[in-house]
Amino acid sequence: MQTNWWKESVVYQIYPRSFADSNGDGIGDLQGIIGRLDYLSELGVDVVWLSPVYKSPNDDNGYDISDYHDIMDEFGSMQDWQELLAGMHARGIKLVMDLVVNHTSDEHAWFQAARASKDSPYRDYYIWRPARIAEAGNASQAPNNWASFFGGSAWEYDEPSGEYYLHLFSKKQPDLNWENPKLRQEVYSMMRRWLDLGVDGFRMDVINMISKVPGLPDAPPQGAGLYHFGGEHFVNGPRLEEFLSEMKAEVLSDYDIMTVGETPMITPEKAVALTDAETGSLSMVFQFEHMDIDEDPATALPRRSIREWRLPELKEVMSRWQTALQGRGWNSVYLCNHDMPRSVSRFGNDSRFRVESAKMLATLIHLIGGTPYIYQGEEIGMTNVAFPTIESYRDIETRTIYREFVEEQGLSKEDALRVIHAKSRDNARTPMQWSAKPNAGFTTGEPWIPLNPNYTHINAEAAAADPNSVLAYYKELIKLRRKYPIISHGRYELLLAEHEQLYCFLRSLPEEGADTRAGAPSGTSAGTPAGLAPGTDRLLVMLNFSALNPVFTFPEETPLAEFELLISNYPVDPTEDIEQLTMRPYEARVYRLSAG
Ligand code: NOJ
Repeated sequence: MQTNWWKESVVYQIYPRSFADSNGDGIGDLQGIIGRLDYLSELGVDVVWLSPVYKSPNDDNGYDISDYHDIMDEFGSMQDWQELLAGMHARGIKLVMDLVVNHTSDEHAWFQAARASKDSPYRDYYIWRPARIAEAGNASQAPNNWASFFGGSAWEYDEPSGEYYLHLFSKKQPDLNWENPKLRQEVYSMMRRWLDLGVDGFRMDVINMISKVPGLPDAPPQGAGLYHFGGEHFVNGPRLEEFLSEMKAEVLSDYDIMTVGETPMITPEKAVALTDAETGSLSMVFQFEHMDIDEDPATALPRRSIREWRLPELKEVMSRWQTALQGRGWNSVYLCNHDMPRSVSRFGNDSRFRVESAKMLATLIHLIGGTPYIYQGEEIGMTNVAFPTIESYRDIETRTIYREFVEEQGLSKEDALRVIHAKSRDNARTPMQWSAKPNAGFTTGEPWIPLNPNYTHINAEAAAADPNSVLAYYKELIKLRRKYPIISHGRYELLLAEHEQLYCFLRSLPEEGADTRAGAPSGTSAGTPAGLAPGTDRLLVMLNFSALNPVFTFPEETPLAEFELLISNYPVDPTEDIEQLTMRPYEARVYRLSAG
């Protein structure tokens, strides 16, 4: 029987550069993580997703890999990595590594060889094209008009060979040519090596961009400018499923692992195809529709705009994904990662109601269907940072966006920084706030990126000492998942879809005997989950996404015979009538209902 431990797991993402520094060089490292394993164990997480730790010149903080088989000098050695893995496994925590195989670093030996000679067997590991014939009115001779995510053309001219290579990200991140079967075999053998060392899965970086449309056609122009987002020609491309099926047959199916594909611009239908228990290749994917909710749809590339959004829009996106994948695939649920602003600043209220709203958002990701992901610091309610000038920002994308805004679009520095304060990836990359000590206990040296000054009151040490902290609430939520299998396996039903402040939903287990193929407990916990009778018990999740006092009215005909409060972020009288009640700012409550 196929085991599905990842359906019952809580994942914690570590961005190693910013997590914990053990040697005072200002950069987080593997020994730093080892020193914090007890913290993770006490939090109760099952899996750690570790952002890349491989050798890298760090043009994009490790997402530009120069050697897939070794560890970045700043982070430590293979020996440290082995110690980390052993330390996690000893605590019952699994390790999911980042797999970045859409591109390598330009300093990878393959690319060095490819660049050195057109006749090298490695030349065809990458995507090379001659210049296009110069045309009147087109200042660029790049092979097509695709834009790089990090600004400018997606092509870089290589003087010695007289050809261009494709790079969807920075010019130091050349795209690999997945059309080449030899390259694919290299990737599979590299994956097998890590799996044989004991890793428990992979998070696959922009995995739905590995198949490009043959001929690499021009993107349709979107407004002024030489370069345009060519997503339709490389996102969810024609051979994506074929490549992933091959990867499954060659590697994944031999191991009991968890895989999560990072898949921007994916549709629910495509996600079902990729995650279907029998015919798909991956355990789950990260979709981004809810991350786009505050972006101007006219801006093709992310993090360059701010848009006001309404709660019914967010509910519509989340609910569409819940329903589409129910019983067919599997959802991953997250509100933050190393590329995103802090969730409490983006979806909650990071001033007066920081604690309440961080708990309310945690209730959403832990009680909705799918595997929840916590991004480091989210569990203590870390917030966005607002550095006063661009000089403090380290992220290649943030710096590019600033340049585009100020130099190309003529925005004032203030207007440029307004967007950057709200959207920069560095919001998530300021050092983890461990304590109120200098540098938040992250390092004894000079941190590679400035801290968020609020570490003096928002930090893990203070949170651990406070029974009402965001951290304490996360621990409770994780315990609830262990106790009530309905949290992992229940069906989702949205209530009050149009309500502007309240996000409320039910979770229920299917009737016994119903087709529960992918929605039901499997593997280690097959059968009726302990403590819950299918079809009778349900959970009611009530979340107030506002600082107002909206009234909740239970919309169902059936009277609530019995209810039991499972968790809440305010003191609650457990006997209070819940068929109609006034909710407090950012209040969250979860009840167990029984039909009686
Ligand atoms: C997605 C990663 O999450 C991001 O950090 C990175 O810059 C790009 N992929 C390129 O690898």
